[in-house]
Amino acid sequence: MASPHIALLKLTSIFIVIASAPELCGSSKTFTLVNYCKETIWPGITRSDNHSGDGFALKSGQSTVYTAPDGWSGRIWARTGCNFDNNGNGKCQTGGCGTSINCTVPGSPPATSADFTLGEPDFYDVSLVDGFNLPIVVKAINGTGNCSTVGCDGDLRQNCPSELASKDNDKVIACRSACDVFNTDEYCCRGTYGNPATCLASNYSKIFKQVCPAAYSFALDDPTSLITCSKANFVVIFCGSRNQTACSYQDKQVVCNRPNKAYKAIPQSWWVLMLPLTYVFNLRITP
Ligand SMILES: *[C@@H]1O[C@H](CO)[C@@H](O)[C@H](O)[C@H]1NC(C)=O
Ligand SMILES: *[C@@H]1O[C@H](CO)[C@@H](O)[C@H](O)[C@H]1NC(C)=O
Ligand SMILES: *[C@@H]1O[C@H](CO)[C@@H](O)[C@H](O)[C@H]1NC(C)=O
Ligand SMILES: *[C@@H]1O[C@H](CO)[C@@H](O)[C@H](O)[C@H]1NC(C)=O
Ligand SMILES: *[C@@H]1O[C@H](CO)[C@@H](O)[C@H](O)[C@H]1NC(C)=O
Ligand SMILES: *[C@@H]1O[C@H](CO)[C@@H](O)[C@H](O)[C@H]1NC(C)=O
Repeated sequence: MASPHIALLKLTSIFIVIASAPELCGSSKTFTLVNYCKETIWPGITRSDNHSGDGFALKSGQSTVYTAPDGWSGRIWARTGCNFDNNGNGKCQTGGCGTSINCTVPGSPPATSADFTLGEPDFYDVSLVDGFNLPIVVKAINGTGNCSTVGCDGDLRQNCPSELASKDNDKVIACRSACDVFNTDEYCCRGTYGNPATCLASNYSKIFKQVCPAAYSFALDDPTSLITCSKANFVVIFCGSRNQTACSYQDKQVVCNRPNKAYKAIPQSWWVLMLPLTYVFNLRITP
């Protein structure tokens, strides 16, 4: 159990410290993945043109910096309850992408996802269209444009309507979408419901939206959840809320955003001071 560390992290707000400083190309996009869940999660990242996709374990309280190639578009999500052997083969309770720890395709529903289209500007959103397995928040650090924080403020597993709940031994492990469960044109925005004028919020999607106000709660939800932002690096927070401070690593500096305050760049020499606040930091760089 890592709960003391989590409590410490929450109390002191969030500082992510980079233990080593590799040479990063100024234009590369970094994704800082932060696990505030009480358990280990296994983030998955989909493949695209110049990227093979990936997946790895992220323990409770850990963060990882992930660098995506220019022009990467795809999905980041978390798998839960996984069991992988030494060769990286195994299964997950939610979000699994097959039998490998490495993902190429999106996880199977129900799973919350963070979706990105990198370009100029970048587009991003958090989506519950494929259901919910844990809270995700996406923050853009130091970007220009709208760049607002998207995602969840709570955990839908705690108030998932029973007809949508996905359970393991009576414990709700995920909340399925109404489209997935009932498979009607109305919930899935198909047929005569295939456009935004006719496919309206349902009593189910409204419950999703309460917990994740800045996310797509059904296929043709109000597009204000899709944000544009230029020149930012991203932080993807699992099991956090939108109002948390988040930090990312860019141009050899740790840069943090604080609710209602300006961005603050923390010089490298501060890392030493911040070290006691950290739990574990892994660094992953992909081509
Ligand atoms: C993939 O890499 C090639 C060669 O570096 C480049 O020309 C192409 O634009 C890249 N594709 C994307 C989607 O960025
Ligand atoms: C997963 O991908 C990484 C590179 O992204 C590679 O180093 C590792 O060997 C792969 N693992 C498996 C089990 O395929
Ligand atoms: C981040 O934003 C601040 C304030 O807008 C700016 O001074 C700083 O140069 C930016 N840092 C990077 C790495 O873009
Ligand atoms: C949602 O609406 C359907 C049909 O109108 C109803 O059967 C169901 O009980 C409602 N569920 C909730 C959670 O309100
Ligand atoms: C950014 O977009 C969101 C959602 O569309 C909107 O609520 C917000 O007011 C916008 N913020 C800025 C600074 O434009
Ligand atoms: C952030 O949001 C959470 C959940 O909504 C709330 O419990 C907490 O008090 C908020 N923290 C701040 C600093 O606003």
